[in-house]
Amino acid sequence: MCSIIAYASCNCNDVSSILLDSLSLLEYRGYDSVGIAVLNGSSISVRKGVGNVKDVNRKHRLEELVGSIGIGHTRWATHGSISDLNAHPHTSCDGRIAIVHNGIIDNYLELREGILKDHSFKSETDSEVIAHMLEHLLSRHKDIKDVMVALLRLLHGSYAFVALLNDGTLVGSRHNEPLIVGVVPSANSILYHYANRKKYNDVFCSSCFISSDVLAFIKYTDKAIFLSNDEFFILRPIKHGYRLSIYDAEGNKIGKQITQIAWELSSYVIDKGKYAHYTLKEIHEQEYTIARALCSKINHEFITRLIDARRVIVTGSGSSYNASLYAKHLLARVGVNIDACIASEVRYSSISIDSNDVLLAISQSGETADLLDAVRYAKSKGCKILSIVNVNTSSLVRESDYFTSINAGPEIGVAATKSFTAQLAVIYKVASLIAHENNSNYDYSIYYYDSLSSAISKGVRDIIAREHLLSSIADTIKDVNDIYVIGKGVNHIIALEGALKLKELAYIHAEAINAGELKHGPLALIDNSRSSVVIALNVKDNTYKDVINNVKEVKARGGYVIGISDCYEYKECYDVMLDLPSIYDTNERDCGFVNAISYESLAYPVYQCIPLQLLAYNIAVKKNYNPDYPRNIAKSVTVT
Ligand code: BG6
Repeated sequence: MCSIIAYASCNCNDVSSILLDSLSLLEYRGYDSVGIAVLNGSSISVRKGVGNVKDVNRKHRLEELVGSIGIGHTRWATHGSISDLNAHPHTSCDGRIAIVHNGIIDNYLELREGILKDHSFKSETDSEVIAHMLEHLLSRHKDIKDVMVALLRLLHGSYAFVALLNDGTLVGSRHNEPLIVGVVPSANSILYHYANRKKYNDVFCSSCFISSDVLAFIKYTDKAIFLSNDEFFILRPIKHGYRLSIYDAEGNKIGKQITQIAWELSSYVIDKGKYAHYTLKEIHEQEYTIARALCSKINHEFITRLIDARRVIVTGSGSSYNASLYAKHLLARVGVNIDACIASEVRYSSISIDSNDVLLAISQSGETADLLDAVRYAKSKGCKILSIVNVNTSSLVRESDYFTSINAGPEIGVAATKSFTAQLAVIYKVASLIAHENNSNYDYSIYYYDSLSSAISKGVRDIIAREHLLSSIADTIKDVNDIYVIGKGVNHIIALEGALKLKELAYIHAEAINAGELKHGPLALIDNSRSSVVIALNVKDNTYKDVINNVKEVKARGGYVIGISDCYEYKECYDVMLDLPSIYDTNERDCGFVNAISYESLAYPVYQCIPLQLLAYNIAVKKNYNPDYPRNIAKSVTVT
């Protein structure tokens, strides 16, 4: 997934610094290469290169480009190697058009070898065809609107793109990739239209942003227009500003509503503050984000739809799939007929879906293409879509019948941390509300969640205070080849999440193994060579004794074991033990609440997950990897 930004302003001639500022906020979407194109007079200058925003700007001095309109891009390579030539923006043969693109043009080879065979291409990318197609069509159609209609008929695949023309016009469109316009009202214009919230056809503004994510422009304006699939926009310079017009794929001008972005997002400070990395900041924020998620508003219809469904299919990708497994674990316990399925497998799975079923889609970004594809597939079968999401302005929210926000705030670090534990908290609350709906003896009062969240926040604080221990454990194991994270029951789900963090952040082969399965094969991997380590998730729940036996099996083969536990009974079995705060200091029994789902069903997964996040983070830092932008992956992948 790549990130796109475009900015036009009649009050500023230094758009490059604004473009760079926005791109640095979007870098989580892709950081293989960076580039901008700026119009000065009638000539477009392009500067781009391999690396992140700071490095490429230092090397190629992007900020020196002067002009009042420009486009920018950060790349997550899909077609063509990571190189300066394959970096965006790409230009037409005559240099009068520059484009930035996110997504995949499936028929790019056909277009290159067909309609565009006389054009000279500079890159290996699929994206460059958009610049040449515009050049080709502009030589056949006078009106840029007709050019766009013709172009959208010829482009196949998933895309969001913006093109800068040397007459100062910006055009762009989207198909299954996000594209959002941020408008900065000019004095007399928008207020009138905005006041009556009526859809209208043209927006007159002094400056305008177009981007993949509201994060890019939220500090400049909270007024956004979300383009729907196959709509395109034309931004034309006019006296003292710009006129923005939006059309459907046939070229009919359409009215669009302006959405006021939630103040929470606009007031959220997107910087690392005192932390070395966003990832560390977001791990520490869990002291508050889990509590906030527990207080999330959950629409009653959301609960009754889950209860009434013939079957619920819960799905997600990456960490959100691990959260889906947790949802299956808890919702099954309160009587929901539920199956979990990896998002990219939903359309291929043997689970038949129809209008009696509900798809519960879990996603931090709400833009993961595999998940949106699963949603569209389930919808085509008449299924209702419920979603648990962090980005309320995302495509998933717009494609859901009901959604619940986890309210974790923007998550910049590519590896999910605070969003995962906030997902667990919301799922815990959903299960509790279902239990209450089925049996009113079970408590669901607001006070219950208040005491729960303060108990959990205290536990999270205690764990974060142990970070120095995790840093020394990281020193011990940072050079191993393999890490096996073992656990039973719900703890195995946290083992999956821990193994994912160790892969994503520390680039170590890490595998989650159901502790009971060790002796049925994986134990063969264990020896006394210290090239591998076992991390045992061994909290004092009904799995404790069994997992201690599995730990002894590993020790008997000379394996090295790190225990993560709140029980000291068999402390000597581990080589190292990371002790967790006892959850019984503050369990609900003291508070006189009765809930179908015990407090430990949330506290233990959370308390075991955070040390694994911190361990992966510390190993990454000790190996000089960038924990915020791990190699080869991106925050959410918008290509299937
Ligand atoms: C991957 C991220 O691209 O997408 C993971 O690297 C994330 O951290 C996964 O869990 C799913 O993303 P989302 O936004 O759908 O939860």
